[in-house]
Amino acid sequence: MSDPFEQLPDWEIRVISPGRVNLLGEHVDYNQGMVLPIAIDRFVRLAARPRADDLVTIESLDLKSRLQFKLEDLDQRVDAQGKALAGWALYPAGVAWALRAGGLEVRGLDAVLASDLPIGAGLSSSAALELAFALAWQAAGGWQLERMALAQLCQRAENAYAGVACGLMDQFACAHGVARHALYFDTRSLQWQPLPMPPDSAVVIADSGMRRQLAASGYNQRRAECEQAVSLLRTRLPDLRSLRDLNAAQLDEYGDCLPPEIRKRARHVVEEIARVQQACFCLVQDDAAGFGRLMAAGHASLRDLFEVSLPELDGLVEAALSIEGCHGARLTGAGFGGCTVNLVARHAAVDFMNTLEKRYQQDFGRQALIYCCQPSRGAHLLGT
Ligand code: GLA
Repeated sequence: MSDPFEQLPDWEIRVISPGRVNLLGEHVDYNQGMVLPIAIDRFVRLAARPRADDLVTIESLDLKSRLQFKLEDLDQRVDAQGKALAGWALYPAGVAWALRAGGLEVRGLDAVLASDLPIGAGLSSSAALELAFALAWQAAGGWQLERMALAQLCQRAENAYAGVACGLMDQFACAHGVARHALYFDTRSLQWQPLPMPPDSAVVIADSGMRRQLAASGYNQRRAECEQAVSLLRTRLPDLRSLRDLNAAQLDEYGDCLPPEIRKRARHVVEEIARVQQACFCLVQDDAAGFGRLMAAGHASLRDLFEVSLPELDGLVEAALSIEGCHGARLTGAGFGGCTVNLVARHAAVDFMNTLEKRYQQDFGRQALIYCCQPSRGAHLLGT
């Protein structure tokens, strides 16, 4: 196989940074719950070299786009020509900004990147980009941070600079991926543990091709609804810090103080956290079928209670569940478009992918991009 770095310049800093797919635990990370993602074998690759001045130049080979900004202009969010930074530019600039705010040295840099991670598909291309730049600036600056601290700074870049109020799951998974393992992550305590994936099952991603421009605002709205649930429930449960602290019985008892829509959001979060905990037992017992049932229940909840699905995603899930060898299927990531994730018996994976592709084409007249992925190592400098 040819070296995927071949198309990048032969510079001293080389970083490889994976996307992630979340198996279970959706929209719970910003409620301090537990999640279960894997880092995947689709990557942002970055070659970089430090500069003597404070300019940052970035070329994206896939987007055929170049960007230049000065470190002294970071607060203004403008490029070297004074134009507002927008789109993907906000991520590297946001990382530089967050690292500096954290008191770390950020140097001028030339960077070229190439990626086989689809953008806006719910596979965390933004977190992969953020971690790639954080590691490049770490190497250039000669300082060293724990992976969790790097992930948190990248989350800060996305929250405060790019304006998406995301939780920590994506940056965590990108930084901590372990080959062949799912990552159980408690977003409150920050404790995490790799759990072996069922060896006879394959993880299949199906990209619906649907992209929602407004994903960020829908996402922030859901987050605000969860916060509203907590503040209303606090009138009855004064010690409640987040929906993580609520159980199903309490929601039954006190849920009448919530507007119906907000109660549905809270119910999703409470039950989804419980599903993650059950799913860990399934992994420990190598129970792929049990895991799959939890995935299907998770999808139904995202569709009916959290309301972040689309007909195309529901169609992909419904079709998948009817195909032989499929243990479970659900939308993955924020929703409003993007991908589904499927757990499929390894021997049936090829037929599954072909059938699913045909069914989606028949039902929606659209082409889904469907592929197997391997749980992979987290972001790192090449040669380390
Ligand atoms: C996006 C966010 C994550 C998480 C998921 C939903 O991927 O970046 O923090 O909230 O949505 O689970």
